[in-house]
Amino acid sequence: MARETTLVLVKPDGMQRRLAGEIIARLERRGLELRCARLLKIPKATAREHYAEHKGKPFFGPLVEFITSGPVLALAVSGESAISVVRTMMGATNPLDSAPGTIRGDYALELSENIVHGSDSKASARRELALFFPDGLV
Ligand code: RTP
Ligand code: MG
Repeated sequence: MARETTLVLVKPDGMQRRLAGEIIARLERRGLELRCARLLKIPKATAREHYAEHKGKPFFGPLVEFITSGPVLALAVSGESAISVVRTMMGATNPLDSAPGTIRGDYALELSENIVHGSDSKASARRELALFFPDGLV
């Protein structure tokens, strides 16, 4: 048990569908704390770095295109076991497998348009937070 900080992105589809407020409300009601926020259109190079683990996979190109297709809301979110708590709140990667009550399970049907991103490990969180909040605020 430890306090952690994780990176959440409201992806372009979530922003376009005006779900940012809903997602923030869910995180806050759970007891998590918003530490930092940035609304931005992700540069292509940053997107490739963010999703570097998927380089070479067939969906890498479309994934980078999608995540850079419109503004995202980047959030640094803190709390007890925040990394795994947020992943559980997001639901499975493929919304067809996401449980009702999760963000993806309530709002998405498409694997490529699944509303939110959350860091998947401590190492990912550290790396991704530095990418989106390079000024040392988090
Ligand atoms: P994310 O990184 O966006 O939070 O999603 P995740 O951890 O749940 O899933 P990940 O394996 O990291 O995949 C990143 C995004 O790539 C798309 N994807 N497409 N066609 C495919 O087989 C496939 N697999 C993954 C999804 O949009 C996923 O969110
Ligand atoms: Mg991932």
